[in-house]
Amino acid sequence: MLSIDRAGELISCVRPNVKHRLSVKLRIGYKDDFDYLVSFCRRLEEEGVEMITLHPRTVMEKFKRHARWEYVEMLKKELKIDVAGSGDIFTVSEAVKRAAGPWDAIMIGRAAIKMPWIFAEAKQEEDLTVMQRSFQQTQRHGVIQGEGCNPSNRKINIEEVGCRFLELLAQYQPPEFHISRARRFFYYYCDNLEWGNYLKNQLNKEETLSGIEMVWKDFFLTI
Ligand SMILES: Cc1cc2nc3c(=O)[nH]c(=O)nc-3n(C[C@H](O)[C@H](O)[C@H](O)COP(=O)(O)O)c2cc1C
Repeated sequence: MLSIDRAGELISCVRPNVKHRLSVKLRIGYKDDFDYLVSFCRRLEEEGVEMITLHPRTVMEKFKRHARWEYVEMLKKELKIDVAGSGDIFTVSEAVKRAAGPWDAIMIGRAAIKMPWIFAEAKQEEDLTVMQRSFQQTQRHGVIQGEGCNPSNRKINIEEVGCRFLELLAQYQPPEFHISRARRFFYYYCDNLEWGNYLKNQLNKEETLSGIEMVWKDFFLTI
């Protein structure tokens, strides 16, 4: 993000080779300079980028301070293409609230790893809100419709989530990625568990996917 021209040239090389929608994910930049961000994104737009996802923190901030979602809204007003926002969505209700914001889409990072079911639950909560709204409307018009406003709560089996992830990892990623990705993802899965830190340490000692799977499954036998 230090050079608008270099980023523009990069996109001009990539654009003709991408058949699908081309999107770019970025932060605010190295400095908190909204005008620079707009110039940068307009150049990407000119080069044929079709969607921009903004994680509204500067590069230096890493994960410090809150994501500045007002920048997503401001950027949306400046561009013709779709703008999505990313940052600090940790719960289902935050996902639903953010999804209803004045941008085109949201992206969920850490919470999507820790709780991959967050999307299904957010959709369920959103459907519920829509159903409740139409239920209230029908009530106002004197007609009470049947049930269906309270879908039962989904039960999550985190052990299965981990095992399924290992299957998909082996299926879709090259072997050199296996251990690093497994460690990264299980780090987040462990945050759902009371003895998660202990388990993280045990998993980190493993050097193979089958070893990780064994430690993971053993943990659930002992709790
Ligand atoms: C495991 C992991 C991998 C990530 N990889 C990328 C990446 O390759 N490119 C990128 O732009 N952002 C990446 N991010 C950042 C996220 O896309 C996201 O912008 C950031 O985590 C803030 O969103 P969150 O608060 O929902 O996690 C990654 C985040 C995590 C947790």
